[in-house]
Amino acid sequence: MSHALRGPMLSFSADPSTAGQGAYEYLEDGLLVVENGRITQMGDAARLLPTLPEDTAIDHYPGKLIMPGFIDLHIHYPQTQVIASYGAQLLEWLEKYTFVEELKYSDPAHAAAGASFFLDELLRNGTTTAAVYCTVSPGSVEAFFAQSHRRNTRMIAGKVLMDRNAPPGLRDTPRQGYDDSRALIEKWHGRGRQLYAVTPRFAVTSTEAQLEAAGTLKREFPDTYLQTHISENRAEIAEVARLFPWSRSYTHVYDRFGLLGDKTLLGHCVHLTEPEMQRLWETATVAALCPTSNLFIGSGLFDLASLHRAERPVRTGFGTDVGGGTSYSMLQTAAEAYKVMQLQGQNLPALEAFHTITRGNANALDLGDKIGRLAPGYEADIIVLDPLATPPMQHRMATAAGNLQETLFVLMTLGDDRAIHRTYVAGKSVGA
Ligand code: GUN
Ligand code: ZN
Repeated sequence: MSHALRGPMLSFSADPSTAGQGAYEYLEDGLLVVENGRITQMGDAARLLPTLPEDTAIDHYPGKLIMPGFIDLHIHYPQTQVIASYGAQLLEWLEKYTFVEELKYSDPAHAAAGASFFLDELLRNGTTTAAVYCTVSPGSVEAFFAQSHRRNTRMIAGKVLMDRNAPPGLRDTPRQGYDDSRALIEKWHGRGRQLYAVTPRFAVTSTEAQLEAAGTLKREFPDTYLQTHISENRAEIAEVARLFPWSRSYTHVYDRFGLLGDKTLLGHCVHLTEPEMQRLWETATVAALCPTSNLFIGSGLFDLASLHRAERPVRTGFGTDVGGGTSYSMLQTAAEAYKVMQLQGQNLPALEAFHTITRGNANALDLGDKIGRLAPGYEADIIVLDPLATPPMQHRMATAAGNLQETLFVLMTLGDDRAIHRTYVAGKSVGA
């Protein structure tokens, strides 16, 4: 059975920072035909409508904006009750708030309820794919994938590996972490829409033996992801230098154990040095930048212009990093990225921001042929944005005069979950 969505629609085929006008397709009155969870046709409504069977159901969204679902490159599902925790920077914040909440996820009922809330919240914010940290408990991963599989969302997730500098109930061992991860990969990686990420939390909480085991897993299962944190906070960087006295840099620690590569997502990358950026570029490693978190935990300002330097452009994307991050919304995340860049005399045009949170992040995940775009063959994860969602948006939009770039800038600056009118997962409308 096919159905269709009609209305203004926007989708990117390339990066507007390099491809300009040709980077996107905008249809003022478009039609998107969906069949068995995939997009089969996209084009002007006037052209496509006469070709559809007469009984085709059409969801009509005049005045809205139809786009691919948003993609979040970095988020923690067990931190929905860590978000908005007061007054600490990274290492203290982890001990005082985060580990306390993550301990609760060894209870399967707590994990299932947490995963359920989290996924519903992502969808309410228009996020249809995310790279997600679970906890050290394998049950927390089971709970997450089970809930995601039931919703048919495309999610990437993994068991946190942590064998030191954490409370006893949140520690594994190199062997146990390896065995548990392996079993989870075999069960979940590629099952339905679920994908696995080997997840050593960060160098502070893993011994060399555990980082070695993470490298082994990545070699044995090369099409899984690897996600971890790097260079978020000055005290963290100093601690890594102390724990790995032989290392030339934080990046060198991960490099030494074979953890860099084109399916590696490094959260934060706030304080990287030039040689470290060079190495990320050489290995096609992705920097997942998390502005609301960096501001809230007081970590610093990521330097996107340096990361993107023309001679060695590092692959980048945006993540929320909830619960260090303060919003589930990729719109708000783009707005805070804009401010982080403003503070450094850099720019983030709205077209580039919307490219990043859709197709850019899909490419960063190596999923650019499956999600992040409205085009035939793509999975039908689709959102409907409302540029008039709130009184301040309505008031401001009165002066936007139908200009696409201005509309997008209003959406990212003033919009949040209220601007997500509808979310479709694999062609099915959810939560409405
Ligand atoms: N570094 C290691 N673990 C974490 C975490 O849970 N959140 C953030 N923001 N940084 C981390
Ligand atoms: Zn994080």
